[in-house]
Amino acid sequence: MMTRLDIPALVLKNQDLGEGIFLLAVCAPHIASIAQPGQFCMLNAGSPGTTDPLLRRPLSIHDADGETVLFLYRVVGKGTRLLAAKRPGEEIQILGPLGHGFAGDNERKSLLVGGGLGMAPLLFLAKRRAKERTIIMLGARTSGELVCADAYRPHADELIISTEDGGLGRPGLVTAPLAERIESAARDASALQVLACGPWPMAKAVAHLCQRHEIACQVSLEARMACGTGLCLGCAVPRSGGGYLHVCTDGPVIDAALVDWERTP
Ligand SMILES: Cc1cc2nc3c(=O)[nH]c(=O)nc-3n(C[C@H](O)[C@H](O)[C@H](O)COP(=O)(O)OP(=O)(O)OC[C@H]3O[C@@H](n4cnc5c(N)ncnc54)[C@H](O)[C@@H]3O)c2cc1C
Ligand code: FES
Repeated sequence: MMTRLDIPALVLKNQDLGEGIFLLAVCAPHIASIAQPGQFCMLNAGSPGTTDPLLRRPLSIHDADGETVLFLYRVVGKGTRLLAAKRPGEEIQILGPLGHGFAGDNERKSLLVGGGLGMAPLLFLAKRRAKERTIIMLGARTSGELVCADAYRPHADELIISTEDGGLGRPGLVTAPLAERIESAARDASALQVLACGPWPMAKAVAHLCQRHEIACQVSLEARMACGTGLCLGCAVPRSGGGYLHVCTDGPVIDAALVDWERTP
């Protein structure tokens, strides 16, 4: 049985990649040994022994290798700003791994689609997939936001990049090359699966596209989280057919068909 742990993890590296994006590596052998692509951890960004900030911050597992767990994150507010100030040798309290990761089979062609920092969990996922059956599509507003794109290249048959300002790769949204691939392969829909992570509008567009062509689709969802473990019920998203799903325990990776996209943000 998988055991999630609340542990002090030693910071090994916290690299400023530019554009407010950081790559954090921590030594957390147990989490690294059981983590699955798509799972996340709750990180305590405050100093040890303090309760400010009170709430931990959820971050996807970017990669797990040997004893090391990596996170790729953007500085947006107080918690991530404190996280960015952590130096090698300091400790961070981490709860994880949490939630459900990506499922799906290795026999199908996988289209991995990441929007912005939604690319974070896709590296770990790509490493666990058969390279020749994997196409990675990464989209961002600008080329500067695609700080880690080269790390994905060795793990896919093809890497397709789009930027909204046209600074790198195809100009426009990542959903455009996705739509082309899906349409050209639509007659063989059962041989395809889409595994996506990104902001809500992207997730919604990907879900609709897949639904139209009857292609299996899993999306990693983001919701404001207080506990990350199913206790606070703060991360509810509407379930198709009524009721709610909780992103921390039902997800964050959820079959797109289970979400009521008309009632989402
Ligand atoms: C499952 C999951 C995985 C995530 N993975 C990544 C990742 O790999 N890389 C990355 O850069 N970001 C990721 N995020 C978003 C990240 O959690 C937020 O950017 C971060 O919590 C912001 O904290 P803050 O204190 O800097 O910002 P503030 O806006 O000051 O945060 C205030 C509160 O809102 C919560 N919050 C703010 N934005 C979000 C958000 N988008 N999602 C959930 N809670 C939020 C914070 O946890 C905090 O409790 C993920 C979110 C979820 C739910
Ligand atoms: S974050 Fe508390 S129930 Fe999901």
